[in-house]
Amino acid sequence: MSDTNYKRTTVTAALPYANGPVHIGHLAGCYLPADIFTRYLRLNKKEVLFICGSDEHGVPITIKAKKEGITPQQVVDKYHKMMGDSFNEFGISFDIYSRTSSKTHHETASDFFKVLYDKGVFTEEVTKQYFDESAHQFLADRYIMGTCPVCSNENAYGDQCERCGSTLNATDLINPHSTLSGATPVLRDTKNWFLPLDKLSPKILNYIESHKDWKSNVYGQCKSWLVSGDGLQPRAMTRDLDWGVPVPVKGAEGKVLYVWFDAPIGYISATKEYAKQINQEESWKDWWQKDDTRLIHFIGKDNIVFHCIIFPAMLMEHGDFVLPDNVPANEFLNLEGEKISTSRNWAVWLHEYLHDFKDMQDVLRYTLCSNMPETKDNDFTWKDFQAKNNNELVAILGNFINRTLVLTHKYYAGKVPAINALQDIDKHCLNEMIEAPKRISESIEKFRFREALAEFINLARTGNKYLADTEPWKLYGKDNERVSTIMHVSLQLTACLAVLSEPFLPFSSTKIYNMLNLQKTDWTQLNNHLLDVDHLLGEASLLYSKIEDEMIQQQIEKLHQSKQNNKAQDDAEAPVNVAPQKAETSFDDFTKMDIRTGTIIEAERVPKTDKLLKLKINTGIDERTIVSGIAQYYAPEDIIGQKICMLVNLAPRKIKGIESQGMILMAENSKGELCFMTPTKDFNNGSLVK
Ligand code: 2FM
Ligand code: ZN
Repeated sequence: MSDTNYKRTTVTAALPYANGPVHIGHLAGCYLPADIFTRYLRLNKKEVLFICGSDEHGVPITIKAKKEGITPQQVVDKYHKMMGDSFNEFGISFDIYSRTSSKTHHETASDFFKVLYDKGVFTEEVTKQYFDESAHQFLADRYIMGTCPVCSNENAYGDQCERCGSTLNATDLINPHSTLSGATPVLRDTKNWFLPLDKLSPKILNYIESHKDWKSNVYGQCKSWLVSGDGLQPRAMTRDLDWGVPVPVKGAEGKVLYVWFDAPIGYISATKEYAKQINQEESWKDWWQKDDTRLIHFIGKDNIVFHCIIFPAMLMEHGDFVLPDNVPANEFLNLEGEKISTSRNWAVWLHEYLHDFKDMQDVLRYTLCSNMPETKDNDFTWKDFQAKNNNELVAILGNFINRTLVLTHKYYAGKVPAINALQDIDKHCLNEMIEAPKRISESIEKFRFREALAEFINLARTGNKYLADTEPWKLYGKDNERVSTIMHVSLQLTACLAVLSEPFLPFSSTKIYNMLNLQKTDWTQLNNHLLDVDHLLGEASLLYSKIEDEMIQQQIEKLHQSKQNNKAQDDAEAPVNVAPQKAETSFDDFTKMDIRTGTIIEAERVPKTDKLLKLKINTGIDERTIVSGIAQYYAPEDIIGQKICMLVNLAPRKIKGIESQGMILMAENSKGELCFMTPTKDFNNGSLVK
């Protein structure tokens, strides 16, 4: 579809997995650009539908449920609500925020699969997969752990070793075990249905090559998958799992659709639900099946293959649908110089931001848009957030609008004054009200949102400079005709900014309209005369306020605190390298050892050593001296009275000249730390340990 030949635009934003809250990386990656684009189209009176919803299937959700001891449905219910609420509060203007566990979605995805199945699109393949005989189920890669063949990490997953980063197949693991039961899984035959991407490759290549207009990162990635190495390979569209959309064909009992088969169909199901909500059930077809529809997917770069290759291949093979017209994928946003990580809690969570920065949605929208990772990964820092607010929103946009409104109230009782003879500086300002919107439009239409925002703030900067250069406050009382013109021009510019800010800063836009007492207008009506002379303005209020260092410091500390907490948790959960079991011993040998409870009654350091303590022990049999290598873990004064277990019949040996008559039993953990083995009850000294 060429850019001018379409009648309506279907805009989708990637369906986020419902296993965690939304963070700023998600926002900058796709939700904010999609929202700006959609709001812009609406303002331009274009027919547009903005679709999103929660992606509620897939293995990570079942794993989260197991970890938290709840059902997958409970996991997705919690996060679906949480994400929907925070998107809404942040002003992401979806026409519908749906979910893939809905009945409509199950039916739609199931029907889609059946169409491809009936057309003979899929190939059936029997492969060997790990099966857990005690849990009676096939194991997804993440449910299998074992030793990495590359780095010997004993806690590698079936698809990846997180220590050395190698991508693995579950069958590569040494000593694999099921994380469900701990059992050693066995390989069993299983049949699945594959999309033969290898055979479809020429068609897909043709499609991609007809989109040289796509962002170069997107086009380039697609081309390289298609033409380099072995090219595309068949991919299983069904999985042996019990959470997802059941595969609707005979012989597929206990299998579900691959999450990346069902998720993009979620866009279609969501449209169907929207159509039902507005009582025009059949209208969903307009958005998906009419040739004059332009379909645009906003996503992050990790989703490119699914939206540019697999989903288009599914749509082509189905035959009833339009294909994606553009997929403006963004790169990643980092945070304070590090990759955002959900598991390490290195993120700014949207719901927390909304709580900590009440009514300041636009400040985050502004900062994220001005740093949007459009062509390369970019960084969000709290200092930059503060600077963008204080030096741009407060000092430029807010300052210009506030001065304009306050002066008009002061000089003209809040009424728009007349425009008189124009000087060049006025003409330049009026001209910019016509030219800047054109430049902003051009940038938005090319998905260059940073550039568009820069043009927008430049227009406010023009206004600020205009006031600074013309200094109406110095002319008032001397040349009132001139002041009237300056204030008139400034007010027209303010009205222009009310319209132009809507896609980027919707909350500010509404406030500016209110201050101007102006009805919302659209981009098509934009000109340099939106306010009539004598129009009565509303009350002036501050659009933005300065963010103090303290507030920023708190956020930085919160971030580092959560990182520390997380490290403590990581340490607690760190893989434990348990020493291998020793060679077998006999019961007789064991009974030869005389182990007793005892109490430390004296303790002192052994001079000139770091590790040794000389202890006097009441063994119940006698009092004796033992030299023990525990000085790094216990101070002598802390252990007087300590109950212990000890081997009393170990042959005496001299250590640093002191005869040691036995051995204290200590447990040693995987980090080499020692601790006493203390009886859990107050048993008398000399009790036998067996
Ligand atoms: O990466 C993700 O978060 C996926 N849940 C995106 C799915 S997009 C679409 F296909 F639904
Ligand atoms: Zn490894």
